[in-house]
Amino acid sequence: MRKAFGKLEVLRGIDLEVAEHEVICLIGASGSGKSTLLRCIDLLESIDAGRITVAGSEITGRGVNANQVRRDIGIVFQSFNLFPHMSVLRNVTLAPRKVLGLSRQQAEAEATELLDRFGLADKRDEYPDRLSGGQQQRVAIVRALATRPQLLLLDEVTSALDPELVAEVLNVIRLFSGRRGAARAGPARADLHRAAARAHPPVPAADHRGRPALTAVDSGAGAVSSAGRAGDS
Ligand SMILES: Nc1ncnc2c1ncn2[C@@H]1O[C@H](COP(=O)(O)OP(=O)(O)O)[C@@H](O)[C@H]1O
Ligand SMILES: [Mg+2]
Repeated sequence: MRKAFGKLEVLRGIDLEVAEHEVICLIGASGSGKSTLLRCIDLLESIDAGRITVAGSEITGRGVNANQVRRDIGIVFQSFNLFPHMSVLRNVTLAPRKVLGLSRQQAEAEATELLDRFGLADKRDEYPDRLSGGQQQRVAIVRALATRPQLLLLDEVTSALDPELVAEVLNVIRLFSGRRGAARAGPARADLHRAAARAHPPVPAADHRGRPALTAVDSGAGAVSSAGRAGDS
């Protein structure tokens, strides 16, 4: 696929395939187009050429309902976008109730299970401003998982965190990627179209609720590598 903003060609023929349950990390310099790629996949940006398919269906074709597509895609950004006037539980249950049409009871049961799995059970009734940045970002990830996405896009979810809080968020990513240490970054490259590093071989498919089929992580320049964070975008 290709994407330009005016004369600036940001994505010059990206060719990327991600297997079911595979976690990949996009590594590249600030401004190399990592966020743009994720935004294109979530149909927040239109593409100029090429096509994007999710689970076999083309999502960039004519007449595709963008809202319908986005229901199957979770996206979490660098800054925590939790609703400050809602408890953790309401933050997490809002979309499942509105978008998936779950009953309050079912949405709360699923949210509680997810919060429990990600070590946030005791924060259920807390408001976001009473949580640490790492906890807020974990809630944001849980909120994205609560809509049962087929694809989860994480755009530098650790880059606004203090270094000591990064690990807890990465542990969450490892948890749902299916095995410990799975979300490993490849070597940093300047060019995004060479930088779609396979993080690890596909893990076996499992019918595991709350686990997206595949996950793409814009990690900044090395946020997920053991060398620590170097990106700033
Ligand atoms: N909406 C936009 N309009 C114009 N230029 C944009 C827009 N969004 C991003 N860009 C430009 O596209 C390039 C890639 O940006 P981005 O995808 O945010 O990079 P990264 O996430 O890798 O840091 C940058 O030069 C940025 O300034
Ligand atoms: Mg970015």
